Amino acid sequence: MESKRSSFSGSIGFVLSAAGSAVGLGNLWRFPYLAAKNGGGLFLIVYLVLALTFGFTLLVTEVAIGRNTRHSPLSAYAYLNKKWAWLGIFGVLVPFMILPYYCAIGGWVMKYCTVYLTGRSLDAVEEGYFGAYITGVSQPVIYMAVFVLLTSFVIYRGINKGIERLSKILMPVLVIIVVIIAAFAVTLKHDDGSGMRTGLQGLRIYLVPDLSGLTLKGLLKVLLDAMGQLFYSISVAMGIMISYGSYLGDDNDLVKGVSQIEFFDTAVAFLAGIMTILPIYVFMGREGMDASGPSLLFISMPKVFQSMGIAGALLGSLFFVMVFLAALTSSISLMEAVVSSIMEEFRISRKKATVIEGAIALIIGVAVCLGYNLLYFELPLPNGTTGQILDIMDYISNNILMPVAAIGTCLLIGWFVKPDMVIKEATKNGEVFRNESLYVLMVKFVAPVLLSLLFLKSIGLM
Ligand code: PHE
Repeated sequence: MESKRSSFSGSIGFVLSAAGSAVGLGNLWRFPYLAAKNGGGLFLIVYLVLALTFGFTLLVTEVAIGRNTRHSPLSAYAYLNKKWAWLGIFGVLVPFMILPYYCAIGGWVMKYCTVYLTGRSLDAVEEGYFGAYITGVSQPVIYMAVFVLLTSFVIYRGINKGIERLSKILMPVLVIIVVIIAAFAVTLKHDDGSGMRTGLQGLRIYLVPDLSGLTLKGLLKVLLDAMGQLFYSISVAMGIMISYGSYLGDDNDLVKGVSQIEFFDTAVAFLAGIMTILPIYVFMGREGMDASGPSLLFISMPKVFQSMGIAGALLGSLFFVMVFLAALTSSISLMEAVVSSIMEEFRISRKKATVIEGAIALIIGVAVCLGYNLLYFELPLPNGTTGQILDIMDYISNNILMPVAAIGTCLLIGWFVKPDMVIKEATKNGEVFRNESLYVLMVKFVAPVLLSLLFLKSIGLM
C-alpha cells in the first residue's frame, strides 16, 4: 500500500496545494475585519509574531506527522500511538463536517461571480438581495451542488492530475488578481460631502498601530483574536496538513515548505485587508469597517463596487472570481482529507471514495441550504449568536472539535511521541530547523496553554 501512495511531484506542488488550502474565506472576510477592529498595525504585529512561533509549530507538526506516518488523518495518530486513535476520528470528522457548509458558501460565491460576470452587478446592491437569495429554495441548492461537483472532480483526478495541477494554475492567478485589486484600492479617492477620504488614509488606519486606550485585557483580546484567526487560516486541526504532508517527498525541505505556506497565507490575508478595508473606508467611512463574514463579502463589497462606477463592475467581477478560486482550493483540501481516510479505512479506490464522499457532502449540503427556508429555526449558541444549520456546524467544528484536536496533537507529540520525531522528520536531509528548543517549548507547553485559552473563549467561558 505504501509504495503505491501518490505524492506531489515536488516542493512547489506541495506548497501551492497547501497554500491553496490555507488561503480561503478566512483570509478574505475575517482577517481584514479583525485587523480593523484590533488597532490595525497592532494586530498585524501580534499576528506575525504568532505566525512565526505558534503557527509554525502547529503546521510543521502536522506536516511532519503526515510525512512520517504516510497515513491518512484517520489512521496517522493510531500509527504513532494506539491509545490516541480517537484523535484520528477528530482528524476526519472536522473536514467531514466543514465540507458541506463550505460548499454551500462556495455556491453563494459562484452566484455572485455569475451576477458580476453577466453584467448584473447592480442587482447585487439592491436592498435585501443577499438575504433574499439565500432564503430562496432552489438556486442556492443548485449552486452548492455545482460547487460539490467541481470539488469532487478534482479529487477524483487524484493528487498530481487534480489537486497539484489545479493549484499550480489557480494560486498564481489568485495572487495576480489580489495584487491588482489591492494596488487599485490604494489609489481611491471619494468625497461624499463630509470631506475627501483617500485610500492612503485608509492604509494608515490599517497599518499604524492604534494603542490609544490599550489595556492589558485589551491586549489579551487582540492576542486571542489573532491566534484564533491564525489557527483557522493555516488549515491546521482539519486533517488537511497531515493528508498533504503524507504526499510530500522525503527529499523535499519540509521546514522551508512550511515557511513558504505561511508566507503565502499571511501575504494574501494582508493584501485582503488592503483590498477591503481601504475601499470600504473611502466609500463608507469608519462605520462601514464593522462588517465581517458574509455581510462584508456579499453586502458591503458590492456597495463599494457600485460606488466605483464602471471600474467597479470590472473590479467586482475580478474580486468574486478570486474569492471563488480561494474557496475552491480550500474545499478541495477538505475533501482530500476525508477521501484519503475513506480510501484507507475501507480499502477502496480513490474514485469510489470520491463518489461516496461527494454524495454525502451533497446531501448534507442540501440540508444546510434548506436551513434558511424549509428547515429554518433559530438556536441560541453559547457565543451569544443565534444560528441556523450552517452556523451550528461551523460552531461545533471550529469552536469545539478543532481546538480539542489541536491540543491533543500537541500533547501527543510533546509528551508521548516526543518532539524529536518532528524535528528528525523535518531535518532528515540536513535542513536547519530554525530553533529546536523553541519548538519543544512551544509544542509541550505554550501551544497547549494558548489553545486551551482559545477553547475556553470559543465556548464562551472566557
Ligand atoms: N484556511 C482556510 C481559510 O482561511 C480555512 C479553511 C481551509 C476552511 C480549508 C475550510 C477548509 O479560510
